[in-house]
Amino acid sequence: MADPVSFDAQIKPLFTPQDIGCMSGMGVKLDDYTWMSDPAGGTLGSCNNFADHMNARTVYAKLTGTCQPQMPLGGTAWDQSDLDLFDQWMTDGFKP
Ligand code: HEM
Repeated sequence: MADPVSFDAQIKPLFTPQDIGCMSGMGVKLDDYTWMSDPAGGTLGSCNNFADHMNARTVYAKLTGTCQPQMPLGGTAWDQSDLDLFDQWMTDGFKP
């Protein structure tokens, strides 16, 4: 089996300094593993109510556009391969 997807090695580098800067002011810490892997469920902003890992699952919903407005706001939506990688990171257990 392939190694689990790593947040620090494979996910964090997908966020630009602008993404991180824009969102940190709203408390969305895209470059912070502890925040991104928080197991707590609930609703972040106007998005779905998630049973677990609200922060990561809301970020994913914003990237796919399931939760509008789609992110990155004013930028280009992620490639499907990067969306799939993020999804696999969650499936693999939100590993650092
Ligand atoms: C990949 C990059 C990004 C991700 C994953 C992301 C993620 C998110 C998430 C999870 C929310 C919901 C938070 C909440 O409503 O409390 C949000 C909202 C928002 N983001 Fe981003 N963001 C990204 C890039 C950006 C950029 C570059 C900007 C600024 C140009 C931006 C501006 C905003 C604004 C204004 C909202 C509030 C939208 C609304 O509810 O009307 N985001 N983003």
